[in-house]
Parts: sequence; C-alpha cells; structure tokens
Amino acid sequence: MTDRPTRTAGLPADPPAAIPAEELRRRALDSLTAARDRTSLLTSCVDDRELTAQHSPLMSPLVWDLAHIGNQEEQWLLRTVGGRDAIRPEIDSVYDAFEHPRSARPTLPLLPPSEARAYAADVRGRVLDIVERTPLHGGGPLLDAGFAFGMIAQHEQQHDETMLITHQLRRGPAALTAPPPPAGDTSGLPSEVLVPAGPFTMGTSTEPWALDNERPAHQRLVPAFLIDTVPVTNGAYLEFIEDGGYTEERWWAPEGWAQIREHNIGAPLFWRREGGQWLRRRFGAVEPVPAQEPVLHVSWYEADAYARWAGRRLPSEEEWEKAARHDPASGRSSRYPWGDEEATPERANLGQRHLQPAPAGSYPEGASPLGVRQLIGDVWEWTSSDFLPYPGFAAFPYREYSEVFFGGAHKVLRGGSFAVDAVACRGTFRNWDLPVRRQIFSGFRTARSADSVITDSVIADSVIADSGTAGSAGSGGA
Ligand code: AVJ
Ligand code: FE
Repeated sequence: MTDRPTRTAGLPADPPAAIPAEELRRRALDSLTAARDRTSLLTSCVDDRELTAQHSPLMSPLVWDLAHIGNQEEQWLLRTVGGRDAIRPEIDSVYDAFEHPRSARPTLPLLPPSEARAYAADVRGRVLDIVERTPLHGGGPLLDAGFAFGMIAQHEQQHDETMLITHQLRRGPAALTAPPPPAGDTSGLPSEVLVPAGPFTMGTSTEPWALDNERPAHQRLVPAFLIDTVPVTNGAYLEFIEDGGYTEERWWAPEGWAQIREHNIGAPLFWRREGGQWLRRRFGAVEPVPAQEPVLHVSWYEADAYARWAGRRLPSEEEWEKAARHDPASGRSSRYPWGDEEATPERANLGQRHLQPAPAGSYPEGASPLGVRQLIGDVWEWTSSDFLPYPGFAAFPYREYSEVFFGGAHKVLRGGSFAVDAVACRGTFRNWDLPVRRQIFSGFRTARSADSVITDSVIADSVIADSGTAGSAGSGGA
C-alpha cells in the first residue's frame, strides 16, 4: 500500500551503529539488485495478458506493482535523496496506493508492460549513480547507514511477495519453479518450550534498516509462557477440521464465525477434498496436502479458533518477539533467533528459494537459544496482537507506511514467510493485515500462559521430555 511521501518530523531514536560507508554502499547496491532480479522473474514468467489481467479483486494487476515499484523508487531515491526532477510526474497518482484500492486498479490508465519495465529500468539506471555519490554518514536520518536505499529495497521485496501471492491466486499452469525445501524431523523435539518470566528488550533503536514501526527499543516485562516449538502443521490442523472445528461456533470469534458461514469456509484457502483425500493447489499444481508442513493460507480467525479448540491461544506479539530474540544467557535481544549474523540458506527458508514452507522440524541451525524452531521464514505467524505503535514511536519517513494502519483493525504477523527476502525480515520486523485475510502466506503457532500452572508436572514433562509430537499440540477440545 502506501506510499505517498508525506514528510514528517519523526526520526529514528538513535543514530545507527557505524558501518563503513563502502560496506553500506555495497549492501545498498546488492539489495536493490537482488530485488530487481526477483521483480524481473515475477514479471517475465507470464505473458502480457497475464500481467495486465486482474487475477483477484484482492490484488493489483502485476503490471501495477511493477510500475509502482519504479515510482516509489523514483520519488524517494531520485527526487528526495537525489534532488532530481520527476521523470513522469503525471503517473504519480496512478501508482499511489492510497488513491486507488486494488480492486479499481485495472481500470486505471496503467503503463503497458513494456513501458512499465522501461520506466522501472530508467529509474534504476539513474539511482545507481546516486548510490555512488550519496554520503552515507552524517547526512541525516534518511541517508544514515543508507536507510533510504534499504527502505526502497525492502519496499520492492514486499511487492515481490505481493506479486507471488498474485501468482498463487492466478489460474492456469505453473509459471514458477523451485527445488523442494529441506526435510524436517520433529522426533526428539519437545512440543513446546517454556520462556521464563522476566523483562526483555523489544524493538530496536540500532538496526540500521529497521522501519519506523520496529522502533524504538524498549523494555517489556513478559510473564512466563509456553510456545510451540514449531508452527502448527497441516496434520495438526486436519485434526481440528475432522473434529468438526469449522462447524462449532464455540471455537470462533463472532466475526470469524460470520465469515466462515457467509463464505462457506471449511478448510484453508486453496484446499479441497476429493475422494476422501485433501488436496491443495500450489502455484498451478494440485497435490496432496503434506501433513508435516506448517499450515498456510489461514486467516487470523482460523488460527484463533484452532488455538481455542486446542485449549491454547495465539502468542501475543511481545511473546513471539521474546521467544525469537531474547537470549537468557546474556539477557540481551539478538537480531535473529540464531544470533546477530545474517540469514543463510541453512538458517531459514526465505527469499522464494523454495515455493513452500519447509516441514516442521527443519532448520535446526535457525533455532532460538531456548530451542524454538522456524520462527524466521516458512510462514508468517499470526499473533493475538493489534498493530499498535511502540512507546516513543515516531512516523518516519512517511505516515502512510505504518502510522495510518495503527489501531484495532489489523493483526500483527511475525517472522516472515518463504516468500520474504532476508532484507525485509528480522526478529523485530512487523507485518500486519486484516484478520479475514487468507491469501497471504500466513500460518501460526500456539502458546499458553505458564504463571498459574508453572509447578504442574504436566508442563515440566512437556518441556523436558521428548513428546515426539511437536506441532500437533492439541489433539482435542479444551
Ligand atoms: C507491510 C506488507 C502490510 O504490502 O501493504 C508496500 C508493505 N507498504 N508498499 C503492504 C508496503 C507500502 C505493506 N505491508
Ligand atoms: Fe508500495
């Protein structure tokens, strides 16, 4: 959405830690290049008719995303940072996400695919020059540590994920391929992990490319809780379906119940039952639903209902972040569950390297200090929390990125999916969407409070012993 550059006075709380300018320049260039490579793949794998068609009223035509990516880059990097004149000022309003809802975008005078490509390439060509010349220290908050370049690389990658969602919604044969993700194994893993009570640092004031809603760092006192070691799997979710979960009002928030009644929903989006077997459509192919894979394409209401049926609840956003970042040994919060180093293919399923989540129990190298797995990558995880500003929040550099979405309408998702690039994913990153949404790459894990029952031997067993059923917590009602 976005993105009209309304300037605000808000500044990130602290100056970013000093990273050498040449290193920042290389990162800026690499991140912009990687984003454009992905955008090119997503917009060259189908023909012009498919690029201009609207595949769902929930989504823009792919060719809108393409030119919008170029237009945001032009507004921020060429005009604001570079001080250049507009290349095509007349198209700004067409690509302003706030002026036109997605459903109306096919009726706009959109640049045709060849022109949209040429426009985005023209902008990028001029930006390369600005990356080279711009001072990356002491130039103010927009430039410090190359923030504006990182912001635009993240923006492009976010639209790449949006375009991948459009590809998933699109009918017709597969246009994209990728190797399968690594195997997973939950045997030997406890089903849940105890996160002891205590304070932790939430958010960041030092992560150079963190967006405004992740700032500033602040202390939170979080009571003890238990959280699933891995995301809820298709197999576990099927137990909910087969137990009549979608037919029993008591599990559902009222608006969720209304939604599943009205739209006759009885399974995650893209699932269907055929000859006694559950199948799913995934990027143009129909295949059996894999039991060990984290459940995907569920709404917040579905996640909430499952958790209630399982006698559990969704984790709050602060619980999720504490599970992902807090290191009990040092008492500090790290950038990722595995520490401060960047994501690698061994640590997390990110960047559309695979076109699906990896099975539960994958990525042992990505585990948190307490042993929670797959917090980063695979599936976006719904939390119980509304999207709200942190204490001390200041909109930066424009109100329309985050601030206009704060309030009770949107729920927070954490951790990123297989479709998120590492540049737009970290332990502090916050995504949000409406609780009815299911076309996004969303799943969840469940939690429960530990303070009232901490001495219960059942909990001690579940934490210490090998239950062998990670991810399938909750085989019955409450
Ligand atoms: C943060 C993913 C909710 O796609 O609406 C894109 C990201 N903001 N252009 C969105 C965004 C402006 C945003 N989300
Ligand atoms: Fe945008």
